[in-house]
Amino acid sequence: MTAIAKPATRPANPNFSSGPCAKRPGYSLAALATDCLGRSHRAKIGKARLKEAIDRSKALLGVPEGYLLGIVPASDTGAVEMALWSLLGARGVDVLAWESFGSGWATDIVKQLKLKDARVLEAPYGEIPDLKQVDFSRDVVFTWNGTTSGVCVPNGDWIPADRAGLTICDATSAAFAMDLAWDKLDVVTYSWQKVMGGEGAHGVLILSPRAVARLESHAPAWPMPKIFRMTKGGKLIAGIFEGETINTPSMLVVEDAIDGLKWGEAIGGLPALIGRSKANLAAVAAWVEASGNVAFLAADPAVRSSTSVCLRITAPWFAKLSAEAQAKAQKAVVGLLDKEGVAYDLGAYRDAPPGLRIWAGATVETADLEALFPWIEWALAEAAKDFAA
Ligand SMILES: Cc1ncc(COP(=O)(O)O)c(C=O)c1O
Repeated sequence: MTAIAKPATRPANPNFSSGPCAKRPGYSLAALATDCLGRSHRAKIGKARLKEAIDRSKALLGVPEGYLLGIVPASDTGAVEMALWSLLGARGVDVLAWESFGSGWATDIVKQLKLKDARVLEAPYGEIPDLKQVDFSRDVVFTWNGTTSGVCVPNGDWIPADRAGLTICDATSAAFAMDLAWDKLDVVTYSWQKVMGGEGAHGVLILSPRAVARLESHAPAWPMPKIFRMTKGGKLIAGIFEGETINTPSMLVVEDAIDGLKWGEAIGGLPALIGRSKANLAAVAAWVEASGNVAFLAADPAVRSSTSVCLRITAPWFAKLSAEAQAKAQKAVVGLLDKEGVAYDLGAYRDAPPGLRIWAGATVETADLEALFPWIEWALAEAAKDFAA
């Protein structure tokens, strides 16, 4: 590869991390309301803000009537664990795993909860398991978007509307950027730190009426820590889904989430948010097509994520390197971009094949991605000087 000059234009915002993700365009801490800070979250004002976050989230996402949405501890992980620990065990379970987060849920189900009747349907990084193999007479656990491989489910068509088991979906890097098939989903979880550019700490747990029925009819065989408990005396603790959180939330994080939701509403709601992410993916695809130095880890466009875009480095000099040298060269590319201040946190996830991961969710501006691509080409050319034989 011949050296290329440093591009003249820099992304206005170099934040392309896959979580916490870029703040919304125009974000300012000064825009957040602070009147509920330093007060009890159970005071009228605190409860009202928690309820506002719940109501705005439901409306923006288009959560169906009859579904419940609660703010829970420990971000998306907390929400998923609450669901797994509270709901599983009533019947067999199929777990889909095609990257590290799905694998993590599979580990919990098989090794921690030790469910005997658990099938793990796996696929390697860049691919998705055969969705036709899923048995919906069982409970089904899956991630809508595998953040560490950039592979998502194509839609909800593979899930039958009438099913005996529950579908439990970790939608953390899909919610607000992809169309979720609500009638096919019984549990949906996500964290604020992703598509809406919010903060960590709290997760969101959405339950269908069927999920609530399971909660009220099934007593897990294992002890249930207070932090996961959603029922009392066999009845749902309904307050959790009205803003009476299990324990103390960060009201600053709640205000930040409300700010993101208001932004989403102002730009045109869910279609606009999805549209922004799709436009970002299209911009990446146009560059990938022209580049010759990178390729999507997800070969099939039908399952290609529009949020966590994962790329392999395919430059001929890179392909010739040993696995160890490839890992070093990838780090060098990511390091150069970081040092230049043009892109932060661009490295592939630690368990994924070496490459680049670019967040392209709704808070990222297409113009910033377009400014970034020539910089990646530059960094690859620079790294080639050190690594190419
Ligand atoms: C698909 C998926 N599940 C779970 C998580 C964990 O989220 P959190 O750190 O918000 O708990 C992430 C975070 O990147 C994710 O992408």
